[in-house]
Amino acid sequence: MSVPVDEVAAGVASMSTGDDQPSETSNAGGEQVVTPWDVAGGADGKIDYAKLVNEFGCATIDDALIARIEKATGRRAHPFLRRGMFFAHRELDQIVTAYENGEKFYLYTGRGPSSEALHLGHLIPFHFTKWLQEAFKVPLVIQLTDDEKFLWKSMKLEDARRLARENAKDIIACGFDPRRTFIFSDVNYMCTPFYLNVLKIAKCVTFNQARGIFGFSGESNIGQVGFPPTQAAPAFPDCFPHLFGTDKKSLRCLIPCAIDQDPYFRMTRDAAPRIGGHKPALIESRFFPALKGESGKMSASDPTSAIYVTDTPKQIKDKVNKYAFSGGRLTVEEHREKGGDLEVDISWKWLNFFMDDDDKLRTIGEAYGSGAMLSGEIKKELVECLTPMIVAHQEARAKVSDAVVDQFFSTAPRDFDSMFGELVGDAPAPSEGPVSFQGGENLVASNAPVPAVAGGEGNKGEDAGAAAGGGDQPLSKSELKRIAKEKQIAEKKAAKAAEKAAKAAAAAQ
Ligand code: TYM
Repeated sequence: MSVPVDEVAAGVASMSTGDDQPSETSNAGGEQVVTPWDVAGGADGKIDYAKLVNEFGCATIDDALIARIEKATGRRAHPFLRRGMFFAHRELDQIVTAYENGEKFYLYTGRGPSSEALHLGHLIPFHFTKWLQEAFKVPLVIQLTDDEKFLWKSMKLEDARRLARENAKDIIACGFDPRRTFIFSDVNYMCTPFYLNVLKIAKCVTFNQARGIFGFSGESNIGQVGFPPTQAAPAFPDCFPHLFGTDKKSLRCLIPCAIDQDPYFRMTRDAAPRIGGHKPALIESRFFPALKGESGKMSASDPTSAIYVTDTPKQIKDKVNKYAFSGGRLTVEEHREKGGDLEVDISWKWLNFFMDDDDKLRTIGEAYGSGAMLSGEIKKELVECLTPMIVAHQEARAKVSDAVVDQFFSTAPRDFDSMFGELVGDAPAPSEGPVSFQGGENLVASNAPVPAVAGGEGNKGEDAGAAAGGGDQPLSKSELKRIAKEKQIAEKKAAKAAEKAAKAAAAAQ
């Protein structure tokens, strides 16, 4: 039996965004649900992507468009593209046309930092974005929505902020170049240019529209209702004057993501002409399926449901062997006779994502589909494919120091032209010391006195504990000392950052 790689990969048709906490979504009615926060298949547990594309109003990527990308970049398409994992788009053709005509654009993607470790599904957009960045040789901004996760999850704000930095290390370990990559946490980077766009977009969207797009209800907290413009705004280049200056408002934007993020950008595209910006283009992927099968869910609360970038080779082997849903038959005889079921076999589906070698993949598909290869053997192939990839990721991550994270988070001005085209040599080593964040880390609402009346309004939130320490009591000597020290550190940081920014600006002239 011959198994064309593309056709089989197109059958990788399921499932969860790998949300990190159990989702509230019910699909009892058999209707599929795909929102940025909940993904559930229809009655058969599968996502009907054709239906989704139709509902969302995006387009599918055809061979002609892939061929244009290959021609424009001079590179063979990434396996995710040629195997149909990135399968849908909005005006990607216009980006390619603009690029063919010598116009510049930038990439924008992101992560909601809700767990310590990323799972393999989270790596998909970052591996692909890295390929896009290298193929088109363009700058990239990566948003870490610590605010979003604080608003949606049962999570303290300081934990979301810490996870933003931790997740940034995994993202950096995918191999991005700091010379043309800017990573920011919303909480840190909510500066005037960014906020101006947030406000302009917010004014374009009524509550009724937001409810229609995102399914908000009377139970949604008002932070959630107000959040979408924050994810929309980075699609406009004037959010980033330190990268693009103030005169590049027409710079186009391309957003790689899984299709669950589409609602944010539908809203963004509606607002774009009204705020004077280009509609961002999108390139969207299917979901990487969970280990236990299409209708399972990758969840941090069930470590056996996914493979994480922190898993050891032994854990990878054990998880694949024990939990990877198999399309193998009940007995060896039956398997030899009927062959493995490629439609449901997770090892096969995962190999389609991560095995680079098309010929080897095709051979495995033929052998497994015909029954010549057994379930244990295809699992072994998967383990051998994943282990070196994850070990290499861990080695790369171990090299990402705090100084390297700061280098990516730095808001020091960059030279616009140098972020496009070929980069020469290696990225410079990060400089010592703190970089120019927008805000001091310790200056926001810390050490406020706790309201005198216990249980008062101001003391009910997630972060109530953060304000503990004294009520109306005068501050102790050590508290005063600590505050003075924090202030001193913040002032020093700000002075250094200003000095650095001034130097960079002078050098750029
Ligand atoms: P988050 O953290 O849920 O997911 C990060 C990125 O990974 C994609 N993704 C997946 N892709 C394939 N298979 C899966 N199983 C899977 N699970 C998640 C998501 O689509 C996303 O691209 N709100 C966003 C963060 C964000 C963002 C953006 C994402 C902010 N700005 C711009 C994309 C583009 C979030 O919570 O992503």
